[in-house]
Amino acid sequence: MPVLDRAVALTLRPPARGAHAKVSLKVAEHDAMYAGNGVHYLECGASALSVIHAATVLAGTRPGAILDFGSGAGRVTRWLRAHWPQARITATDLRGDDLAFCEAEFGCATFLSATDIGALKAPQRYDVIWAGSVLTHLSAAAAEALLVKLLSWTRPDGVVVASLHGRFVAGRGAAQEFYGLGEERWAALQAGYRDGAAYGYADYAQTPGYGISIARPAWAAAVAERLEGARLVLLGERLWDDHHDVVALQRRPIDAMP
Ligand SMILES: C[S@@+](CC[C@H](N)C(=O)[O-])C[C@H]1O[C@@H](n2cnc3c(N)ncnc32)[C@H](O)[C@@H]1O
Repeated sequence: MPVLDRAVALTLRPPARGAHAKVSLKVAEHDAMYAGNGVHYLECGASALSVIHAATVLAGTRPGAILDFGSGAGRVTRWLRAHWPQARITATDLRGDDLAFCEAEFGCATFLSATDIGALKAPQRYDVIWAGSVLTHLSAAAAEALLVKLLSWTRPDGVVVASLHGRFVAGRGAAQEFYGLGEERWAALQAGYRDGAAYGYADYAQTPGYGISIARPAWAAAVAERLEGARLVLLGERLWDDHHDVVALQRRPIDAMP
């Protein structure tokens, strides 16, 4: 099992700086998010904690129960555990081995997810739901359906914090090997996005229904306006790891503000 080096993350900003001494340094052998760069792996998780924490502060939400939706093997989950040691943290994913690791290493509750978003059920309600790099693999319809579903799993005043590929990603496909799509599919994704649409998507070659998406900030704002009972708390570009945009929605009707 690879073990990270605690000394690599000393440049972190709060709240990750405080959580850094407690964060688990164990990486699952099957962690698809770990590509051998321990510094980036830790910084990426720490950056997610910063933006999730900011969303909770802005929303005024106390994170008693947290769900990491699409947790993988806990690149971010470990930081949630380190910063909120008293919280009930749940991890869910399609990858059973990753969930077993999160349960054993971070004391998470877990449940196995599925690809039929409409049929998904959660065992409880949450104050905070994080979906890091999940919408970034879904079509516009599936991404919106997932936001609706996740918002329905929040407690009153709870927040859903989700990452998106935005304008930054749209401009750097060629430099990033087309995010695994290949040049032709990347061009198809770009075509939709360029022709005035707010969202572009293309499947990976081998996985219909799962690929790469890009979304203009206007897409996330429009979804927020469409969702009944949702308040747009935060929408920012390259907020996660200087890479993904992040949107945070709170379950609180706009006309119910104090
Ligand atoms: C790019 S990875 C990101 C993992 C983790 N959030 C992180 O940032 O390290 C996307 C994850 O979402 C999971 N995923 C995709 N569709 C899902 C679904 N319908 N339900 C739960 N997890 C899903 C994948 O299995 C994968 O682990």
